[in-house]
Amino acid sequence: MKSIVETNNLSKSFRNQKALSNFSMNIHQGDVYGLVGKNGAGKTTLIKILFGLVHESSGNYSLFEVNSSEKKISDIRKQISGIIEQPAFYPHMNSFDNLKVQAYMSNLTNFNKIDEVLQIVSLRNVGRKKVKNFSLGMKQRLGIARALLTDSKLIVLDEPTNGLDPEGIIELRELIKFLNREKGITFLISSHYINELEQVINKIGIIGDGQMIEEIPLDSLKLKLKSCIALSTNSVDDCVKALKGKYADIKCKDELILINDIDIEVAEVIKYLSDCSVPISQINKKSMNLEEYVLSKISTKTS
Ligand SMILES: Nc1ncnc2c1ncn2[C@@H]1O[C@H](COP(=O)(O)OP(=O)(O)OP(=O)(O)O)[C@@H](O)[C@H]1O
Ligand SMILES: [Mg+2]
Repeated sequence: MKSIVETNNLSKSFRNQKALSNFSMNIHQGDVYGLVGKNGAGKTTLIKILFGLVHESSGNYSLFEVNSSEKKISDIRKQISGIIEQPAFYPHMNSFDNLKVQAYMSNLTNFNKIDEVLQIVSLRNVGRKKVKNFSLGMKQRLGIARALLTDSKLIVLDEPTNGLDPEGIIELRELIKFLNREKGITFLISSHYINELEQVINKIGIIGDGQMIEEIPLDSLKLKLKSCIALSTNSVDDCVKALKGKYADIKCKDELILINDIDIEVAEVIKYLSDCSVPISQINKKSMNLEEYVLSKISTKTS
């Protein structure tokens, strides 16, 4: 499947502040890719690098299989559109005129298409209303209309649901799903709202301190979440040490230890820890939701 975005050991420092550190990600054609991470994790920096607004300190990336070191990368960037932090428009113009400006800048002569894309994002009926009087949701949708006007194959949305009301969130979600399904548009969406993202994405990338902590298809992750084992013990350090010797994915939060492994059974863990002389006070199979999982990945030490 065609690669749309690939980053290879991308790093970026602002003076002595590291924003990205050997960051690697892969987005393929047709993905709706969710990038999640805390404030300051590096999401916007990554997006700005992809748009050529910030220059990487080291590493490289490809867009549509063209490497960032190649001259034609700036032409390739014309196939991507994004709304970074806030959608920017001419506030005193209406939506049609704003898109007309975009059409001129992109050398498009077919203005019929403007009505067509405004229809898709449900903004055809707002008439002469100036963009300065638009709600945030309307501005987001106009940003998407602008991307559609230029036939973008990748749309990047940085925190798109920030400040949207529930209705605006649902409208945006439906629009993303529609454009992905019907027009084959690939999306990269950064967000803090994991429960919301879960409803649209097929792949997730978890970013922490500028690094990719985990990148996984949502289906595989959900399977993994169904069957982790949670145990508590007074001997946390000994227990983690013993478990790390046998299982790959161990997480520890206070006195609760989680083992993420589809194939293990409770009895097996009890026997193993007993052989290692580690006492446990409680153990059971637990299913986690996506938000709990992501939070455990980005907010606790991985022991
Ligand atoms: N222009 C800049 N100059 C100095 N430091 C910067 C600059 N831009 C970003 N940073 C720093 O880089 C780190 C990553 O910031 P970034 O904005 O990419 O995070 P983010 O994941 O988008 O966060 P948020 O969720 O708050 O939007 C932060 O520590 C930030 O302070
Ligand atoms: Mg940001």
